[in-house]
Amino acid sequence: MEPKFFAAPMQGLTEAVWRRLHRSTSWRADAYCAPFMRIEHGAPRRKELRDLAADSEALPQVIFRDVEEFTMLLDAVEAAGHTAVDLNLGCPFPPQVKKGRGAGALLNAAMLAGVADVMASRPDMTFSVKMRPGVADAGDWRPLLPVINRMSLAHVAIHPRLIADPYDGPLLLDEFALMAAEIDHPVIYNGSIAAPADIDRLLQLVPGLHGVMIGRGLLARPTLIGEWRAGSEMIEVERGRALRRLNAEIFNELSQSLCGETQILQKMKPYWLYAPEEIIGRKCLKAIKKSTTIKAYEAALKL
Ligand SMILES: Cc1cc2nc3c(=O)[nH]c(=O)nc-3n(C[C@H](O)[C@H](O)[C@H](O)COP(=O)(O)O)c2cc1C
Repeated sequence: MEPKFFAAPMQGLTEAVWRRLHRSTSWRADAYCAPFMRIEHGAPRRKELRDLAADSEALPQVIFRDVEEFTMLLDAVEAAGHTAVDLNLGCPFPPQVKKGRGAGALLNAAMLAGVADVMASRPDMTFSVKMRPGVADAGDWRPLLPVINRMSLAHVAIHPRLIADPYDGPLLLDEFALMAAEIDHPVIYNGSIAAPADIDRLLQLVPGLHGVMIGRGLLARPTLIGEWRAGSEMIEVERGRALRRLNAEIFNELSQSLCGETQILQKMKPYWLYAPEEIIGRKCLKAIKKSTTIKAYEAALKL
């Protein structure tokens, strides 16, 4: 069976505007995960609530350090009209990990057991998990296995790296295969999928894999899922055109919702960070990065 494709959550990037625009293309993913929502000053952040309100089809994600934070976020997600929640057990960002959130929660089986009890009391909601194998040890997940298997989960997405290698560096594929064999839920692979051939290699390695989650790969190559489904790669010129068109649509939407050139450019520039130099051009990307006015940004796109 064909794997289910998920767009990975990425703070500041895969927000409602990007998700809606990418979802409207023929290369769309099956599901789109929103960047994590967190508690700030004792309450769920408004910015993330607005993002969820703007996209009823998103899969909301929460990051938490205890049962209280988890419950507060769960209530907020439900109040925003969503019925599914993804638990972030993988964020490697030190300030979050130190406070026991994200990957930090992997070391707190007792807290996660409490979270599992809350989940069991909310049959109206669907849950999923996004995790790493561990913090500093690839076997950190093992003590968590009973609690994860006890949870009722739609899927478990795994990014097989430790936090010392946040998103680059060696992939722990053997550990991923061990986890996939031991976890009693549908398993999704996430990490460094950049081309259709990467998806084929992965499906050979783990036959029967439920799904593939892609982050940077979709920002660099928005057509990636469509190309894999079609069984043929687009030529570079077409891929470049597709990326430029998507980013132009994002720019148009941001220009309508934000005021001030600085604000628009600050929000827009990260979308070009993952663009392939060999396709978009080194000069063009350098000039986009340097641009401080809309005029300079638009001139850069013509290089
Ligand atoms: C800028 C940035 C922001 C991210 N934000 C989130 C997030 O909010 N929640 C989350 O679970 N993962 C987050 N991630 C991790 C991605 O979802 C994904 O696991 C990671 O990029 C590896 O997948 P990829 O190689 O397909 O990009 C973020 C990664 C980056 C680079």
